[in-house]
Amino acid sequence: MAKHDIDPNYLDPNYEPVVNHSENLPFHQVLSARMQRRAVMKGTVGAALASVMGLGLVACGSDSDSDDETASGNTQTPGTTERALGFQAVPVSMDNQVVVPEGYSSKTFLPWGTPITGSYPDYRADGTNSGADQEEQVGMHHDGMHFFPIDQKSGGNSSTEGLLVMNHEYINQEAIHAEGATYNADGSRPADEVRKEIAAHGVSVVHIKQDANGEWDVVFGSPLNRRVTGGTEMEIRGPVRGYDKLFTKFSPNGTRTRGTLNNCSMGPTPWGTYLTAEENWHGYFANSDATQPREQTRHGVGSESRYDWELADNKADQYVRFNVSALGGSASEDYRNEANTFGFMVEIDPFNPESMPQKRTALGRFGHEGVIFAPAKEGEPVVCYSGDDSRFEYIYKFVSSKPYYAATAGGYLLDEGTLYVARFNEDGSGEWLALDLDNPAFASKVNAAKGTTVGDVAFDGFENQADVLLNTRLAADIAGATPMDRPEWGAVDPNTGEVYFTLTNNTKRTEDQVNAANPVAQNKNGHIIRWQEAGNDYTADSFEWDIFVFAGEQGTETVVDGDAVVTLNDDNIFNSPDGLWFDYNGRLWIQTDGYSDETFGNQMMLAANPETREIKRFFVGPQGCEVTGVVTTPDSKTMFVNIQHPRGNWPNAAEDRPRDACVIVTRNDGGVIGA
Ligand code: FEO
Ligand code: CA
Ligand code: CA
Repeated sequence: MAKHDIDPNYLDPNYEPVVNHSENLPFHQVLSARMQRRAVMKGTVGAALASVMGLGLVACGSDSDSDDETASGNTQTPGTTERALGFQAVPVSMDNQVVVPEGYSSKTFLPWGTPITGSYPDYRADGTNSGADQEEQVGMHHDGMHFFPIDQKSGGNSSTEGLLVMNHEYINQEAIHAEGATYNADGSRPADEVRKEIAAHGVSVVHIKQDANGEWDVVFGSPLNRRVTGGTEMEIRGPVRGYDKLFTKFSPNGTRTRGTLNNCSMGPTPWGTYLTAEENWHGYFANSDATQPREQTRHGVGSESRYDWELADNKADQYVRFNVSALGGSASEDYRNEANTFGFMVEIDPFNPESMPQKRTALGRFGHEGVIFAPAKEGEPVVCYSGDDSRFEYIYKFVSSKPYYAATAGGYLLDEGTLYVARFNEDGSGEWLALDLDNPAFASKVNAAKGTTVGDVAFDGFENQADVLLNTRLAADIAGATPMDRPEWGAVDPNTGEVYFTLTNNTKRTEDQVNAANPVAQNKNGHIIRWQEAGNDYTADSFEWDIFVFAGEQGTETVVDGDAVVTLNDDNIFNSPDGLWFDYNGRLWIQTDGYSDETFGNQMMLAANPETREIKRFFVGPQGCEVTGVVTTPDSKTMFVNIQHPRGNWPNAAEDRPRDACVIVTRNDGGVIGA
């Protein structure tokens, strides 16, 4: 049986339905009377936008001094002032290969199917590995990634041995099986195909080590090697734990679930664990009921799932659970609430392979792209930021209730705190709006909204704070957050403390929906926004923001106070910024996931000097891919870059199917990458 006749866009991994129909959309709602104008985009594609934005860059001083931060999510010492880009920019490329600058080398590493644990089943190039094999092999569609030095727990800083932890966002059904996804005559799917697809999702924890010749390899037999998949048992933590809207047949008290899915980006915590994000989880579930709860409609759960896992032919609970229709007599007899156990940040302790992953519900439930922690300070709250990557969705900040102390810090810090959502005002100021029923401003907005329709949701209130967090998007609609152009990764400048976020694109934004922070109608190329918290205090409830750069073609200008602070040229045109990471020297790495044509070539990675806004293309990926996930060893001499959804037979010309893979980039003279 062929795949159902559904909207073909639905099969596009970048497809996110517009599900924010709240009243936050119109420009006039966030347009304050004392509007000042800020960064302008000009140039070939920006000319039509010149009327949108004007002058006046406020604060966000790129020359402010470091604020004496300490731990930064790993043991590396945060930035020096050495941020210059010392390499020769590479040109755009449409070749089916990786391009790096002169003097650099690249090598593929840990492609999909690499055996890493258990019986280390060999990868079969004909697609015939079983579901059980896949559970012991590297998953598909590599995304966010972090390198944990092997001696990190004891205060070390190894650059020759560590745990490379990476996400596997989704799958290529054509490549994963011998003949693509198949269906039985009755429309069901062979259960082992489903098992394999679920196992190709999730996270790989890979113990890797460099040999005397500088070659990296998997440490065979290491007890730290681990696969976390779409089927791994997980614990629900934080305020939503035990809430009856999470009751399922598997966990009648709403404290557990199975699996993490659509893991896009991530964030290392200040205590040495890994948070993986659940982004487009809605596509894994099917609901054929006449009406759906707001917990599903506000995310776009449909009547058919992306991969039809719920149609597995052995009717095991493990697969049936993806049908979230109300099939039984109560929530404890079916999986109507299964989708309510997804959409969270999930904590994995890579150094403790027996530990159960923890879904940290206090950070909210939405299409988490990833998370970025502010540098942790002794005795102060932990702060982290997360974007919701869907058109017109929001940027959030979590501030813990309990203070951070390095000696005792742990995931418990993420279970109590306040979740805020960002409002970007027209004058360059911004506010963090608490999504907390104990906050008088929020409580009064919630009361005022009762009995009205918020977007498509007939709003009858929130039962409690767990209900607020479960419906984070709805709460943010009510709070009056600013709808953004698809917030992807965030990064914190180790030198200035500024927080950067990529806004990848949003072609659905109309002229009357632009706002100062998202000033481009039909924004097909995206931009990067940044802000500085008031007083450089990450717990502040206000900030000053500006636009770091508008992406686009040659000649696209980012104009501040009448001066073009960036004019894109052959060395740095790009579109659709997605991955974003400050390296340990303070260089900003920008990865793209957009459209490829003769102008832009394949997707790429660029480096930026945040102080001067100099940007240079460093890396171009093979055909069809997005470039996503980047980290280096602490000495900045080995860089790991992930290639997701390549095309053809990259990276192995002798094979007949593509394999997502990591790429190791080194400098031929052994120097610091990017310097
Ligand atoms: Fe999975 Fe938003 O990129
Ligand atoms: Ca992404
Ligand atoms: Ca993307």
